[in-house]
Amino acid sequence: MDFSGKSIVITGAGAGVGRRTALEMAARGGMLTVSDIDASKAEGVAGEISGAGGRAIAAKADVREYGEMEAMIGAAIAEFGQVDVLINNAGTGIPKPFIMTDPQEWNFDIGICLFGVMNGCRAVLPHMVERNAGRIVNICSDAGRVGEPTLAAYSAAKAGVVGFTKAIAKEVARNNVLVNCVCFSTIRTELMASLFQMNAEMEPKMVKRYPMRRIGEMEEAANTVMLMCSEYVTFVTGQVLSCNGGYAMVD
Ligand SMILES: NC(=O)c1ccc[n+]([C@@H]2O[C@H](COP(=O)([O-])OP(=O)(O)OC[C@H]3O[C@@H](n4cnc5c(N)ncnc54)[C@H](O)[C@@H]3O)[C@@H](O)[C@H]2O)c1
Repeated sequence: MDFSGKSIVITGAGAGVGRRTALEMAARGGMLTVSDIDASKAEGVAGEISGAGGRAIAAKADVREYGEMEAMIGAAIAEFGQVDVLINNAGTGIPKPFIMTDPQEWNFDIGICLFGVMNGCRAVLPHMVERNAGRIVNICSDAGRVGEPTLAAYSAAKAGVVGFTKAIAKEVARNNVLVNCVCFSTIRTELMASLFQMNAEMEPKMVKRYPMRRIGEMEEAANTVMLMCSEYVTFVTGQVLSCNGGYAMVD
């Protein structure tokens, strides 16, 4: 896959799958806007890319804040002239049984996972529609497709992203803007690896639920995201692709 000359914005790219995707796309010629709520993490990843001879800028943005997302897209356009690809990757959930949650707590998961994606799309779409070109990949979770106990608000937010993605995919298809979802099941990010280290039983117990009897690696997650942004995918929009070792199989 070749991303030479493509301007790519990734949210939550300071760690985990977002970081890995940024590094992989930059290695394939992409010009990266590495965005994160944590400026030092974004700068660190942008520095890794520049240090390896690639092109990248860091943009601090909290996906919950529309103004910050607009500024992030503006910074990418100012630096690289355009935005070809937006990957709405930032997302997180706090595990807790639903009946123990306070309604105020739902705002956290829904704010980041659903409104964050909507903010990103709203900020970039006028630019993509005007250019008559663009790709958006919204990062979801199998939790949004089949539900995950103790992650009810997160599951609701991710399911919302699926419906939202289909709606806007229909709105902008005639403008040659493709909008798709990539879902993950458990991926061995730095955070997951540290949880597995703290609790040795966690991973073996978890993999029993996976037909492939293992969880996913960051490279596999990044490869799936890149595929949906690549030259190989040109007639696919409003679709949901799970990178999940067979965890959820949804029609
Ligand atoms: N890792 C998994 O097992 C897994 C499984 C299913 C879905 N996902 C989804 O994949 C995506 C990436 O997850 P990950 O595990 O790589 O994440 P991660 O927790 O490893 O990293 C997330 C990054 O997002 C940043 N971030 C947090 N809140 C933010 C905000 N409000 N605005 C901007 N940036 C913010 C963090 O600083 C961090 O750098 C998320 O959407 C997540 O829901 C992950």
